[in-house]
Amino acid sequence: MNQDQLKQLVGRAALDYVPAGQILGVGTGSTVDCFIDALAAEIAKGAIAIPGTVSSSERSTQRLIKHGIKVLDASEVTGLAVYIDGADEIDGRGYMVKGGGAALTREKIVADLAGKFVCIADESKLVQTLGAFPLPVEIIPMAAAQLTRRFAKIGGTASLRAGVVTDNGGHILDVRGLSITDPLGFEAEVNQWPGVVTVGVFARHKASVCLLGGAGGVKTLT
Ligand code: 5RP
Repeated sequence: MNQDQLKQLVGRAALDYVPAGQILGVGTGSTVDCFIDALAAEIAKGAIAIPGTVSSSERSTQRLIKHGIKVLDASEVTGLAVYIDGADEIDGRGYMVKGGGAALTREKIVADLAGKFVCIADESKLVQTLGAFPLPVEIIPMAAAQLTRRFAKIGGTASLRAGVVTDNGGHILDVRGLSITDPLGFEAEVNQWPGVVTVGVFARHKASVCLLGGAGGVKTLT
């Protein structure tokens, strides 16, 4: 199976985690696109019924709406049972790097509303230590140079993602060369740097369960 087929596999596997009759949190990315398409097919068949979704990006919102699935504003809900999203890296403890699609801030907001984070990914995303994937950080544009210097002090090389403006009007720094051995401490520290909107380490909002697609099928990590 190629990577696209693995994404479709885990996208379908995530259907088992959709809470019947409840509003669902929906993430962003190519794996989530597969999940949205699978969800829409089940809704069309009458096999799944949900009152709506809360989406973590304009991209996912457009796809959900195209399928006729209702999208609510995050402020219209007080909580969500489940949030389903992909990851750029995940370790054996469920700590993740996210933001390859520049949606990390809204992803963390929706994850914060949810009781359970279901991560869907192909097995290439499983790592021992986070940091090989360039770490996305959403920033306030005027802080770019200062934050680049701060990352250099901890061994990271930050570069501005060219031509990208997030759904919130922010910019993205991609930071290479880090080895994130203490994801909880790293997230807490970097989030306090002035100009950082959201760091793409999801440690406080780690995955509750991860569906990993590989040659042998879908493995569930809890
Ligand atoms: C978007 C994300 C995505 O979940 C992450 O980049 C994985 O994407 P894909 O499923 O396309 O590999 O964090 O901001």
